[in-house]
Amino acid sequence: MPADLLHLEAVCAGYGKVPVLHDVTVSIPRGDAVAAIGANGVGKTTLLRVIMGQIPITAGDVLFDDVSIRELPTSRRARLGIGYAPEGRALFPMMTVRENLEIGAYHATAARRAARAGWLFEVFPKLAPLRGRLCALLSGGEQQMVAIARALMNEPKLLLLDEPSTGLAPRVVGELYEALTHLHADGLTVFVVEQNARAALRFARTVHVVEDGRIARSGLASEMLDERMLAEAYLGHVPEPPVNAP
Ligand SMILES: Nc1ncnc2c1ncn2[C@@H]1O[C@H](COP(=O)(O)OP(=O)(O)OP(=O)(O)O)[C@@H](O)[C@H]1O
Ligand SMILES: [Mg+2]
Repeated sequence: MPADLLHLEAVCAGYGKVPVLHDVTVSIPRGDAVAAIGANGVGKTTLLRVIMGQIPITAGDVLFDDVSIRELPTSRRARLGIGYAPEGRALFPMMTVRENLEIGAYHATAARRAARAGWLFEVFPKLAPLRGRLCALLSGGEQQMVAIARALMNEPKLLLLDEPSTGLAPRVVGELYEALTHLHADGLTVFVVEQNARAALRFARTVHVVEDGRIARSGLASEMLDERMLAEAYLGHVPEPPVNAP
């Protein structure tokens, strides 16, 4: 069995003639929790779209379980075992929690879907009493849980998360990452992209810093958390208050 569940090798990609990702090489080892952090517009979402096959790559390769998936459509990649909770959650607001989950495994048997949804209501107990509620009526944190649960309906080996903490209060972010930590401890491989570097660095073991469509540096989250420079660049520097002139 290859050590890397997913491997991007020198990937270039963009939109039309506009290049966004340049020569990106990233490994997601089996069983690891990996984060990519970076500011607005550096290409984090594009990186996940490339993995899902939503945009083509212009150079390089994408390997899943050591096999190139470069030419496969998104649906095949999902069936191979890649779950995706996209930026903005992309739920169907006028459908219930349960119906949104069902969409995550539409080709599975009804019995299998029911069993999987039952398990996900244990992983996210707050969703259990809300299963019949329209997603439009959920809080942001609840909606994010539905998005993650839907991505897990298909029993993926790899879970991709795009900014799960956006718009959520710190306490809710903490709850969400706690659930992800349990899933990861049970063997799920997770790749999360975040602007919220603090949450990502606490959760992940390995971190890649994305700048202008390139991997600017990579390392262990525990080491990066200690670094003042990184903290200032990505965790938000609180400036000293100005000293008023007399
Ligand atoms: N559909 C698109 N068509 C053209 N350009 C796009 C498209 N989507 C994104 N881009 C551009 O690609 C670049 C990278 O965007 P991307 O969404 O990957 O950034 P990001 O790191 O996810 O940003 P954010 O933190 O704001 O979500 C940006 O310059 C953006 O304007
Ligand atoms: Mg994005």
